Amino acid sequence: MAKLLQTLTPLLSLLLLATATTARSQATSFIYDFYGQKPTDLLYQGDAHFPSDSTFLRLTNTDNSGNPLSHRAGRAVHSNPIHLYQAGAHADFETTLKFTISHTGTASVPGDGLTFFIQPVGTPLGFTGASFGIFNPSGLNPAVFAVEFDIYPNAGVDPSYRHVGIDIGSNVSKNTTDVGGALLGQEVTARINYVQATKLISVQVSAGSESFEVSYVQDLSTFLPQMVEVGLSGSTGGAIAVFDVVSWYFTSTLVNTGAGHIHQYV
Ligand SMILES: *[C@@H]1O[C@H](CO)[C@@H](O)[C@H](O)[C@H]1NC(C)=O
Ligand SMILES: *[C@@H]1O[C@H](CO)[C@@H](O)[C@H](O)[C@H]1NC(C)=O
Repeated sequence: MAKLLQTLTPLLSLLLLATATTARSQATSFIYDFYGQKPTDLLYQGDAHFPSDSTFLRLTNTDNSGNPLSHRAGRAVHSNPIHLYQAGAHADFETTLKFTISHTGTASVPGDGLTFFIQPVGTPLGFTGASFGIFNPSGLNPAVFAVEFDIYPNAGVDPSYRHVGIDIGSNVSKNTTDVGGALLGQEVTARINYVQATKLISVQVSAGSESFEVSYVQDLSTFLPQMVEVGLSGSTGGAIAVFDVVSWYFTSTLVNTGAGHIHQYV
């Protein structure tokens, strides 16, 4: 024990020093490579499952031949709540997901989409179709932030192209980028980043040789509670596809906003 303490003390001082100099404190990080991994600290809701022979997380159900089913929704939610803000501190976060959306051998058009979302802890599974498993049947949910990868342009409300959109409390995106056919039939990598100092949400997407970007400025603490949970969702409506997640990385760090208030969690 004494020996252990001797070893730990310099390490602890180093940690304290690092915390003090960068004025950073509590952090949450996780990384899942679903290739052969079935994490037990994710909550699987609705359809989300690992097909028996799979190397990925499948968000919506398929039939015995692997064809997607209509009007389904599924989500994987990280089971540890995340501190988004507290007095004098707000979180920066970054997440990277790799996924494929496939639509082969089906007569129906591809739909609906996949999201990364942040919501109050314990919010139940939402509606299918254009609600992506996170919004209610009217496409609203005031306390949800999401980045949607929307492969079905809903006539009259969505832009007329397949898009990546930033959603604040509603499936009507605040900003979108036209992704053409890039989200279909190939691996997509999306990096989502939020910096509390500027309130800038930025999304970078790469698929094959193409890349896309969309951003929006919004203070997340104006509509989300202090403790939140993060997840991935997928849904089909009348339009269908298979939503498979290959890997998911997430990290968040509470950054002190007020000078002289350094919270330590060592
Ligand atoms: C939002 O969701 C509702 C219910 O699913 C749907 O009727 C509406 O078209 C959706 N809006 C967008 C912009 O996708
Ligand atoms: C929409 O995203 C683009 C690309 O990041 C950005 O240049 C533009 O300013 C954004 N529009 C709004 C309203 O935030």
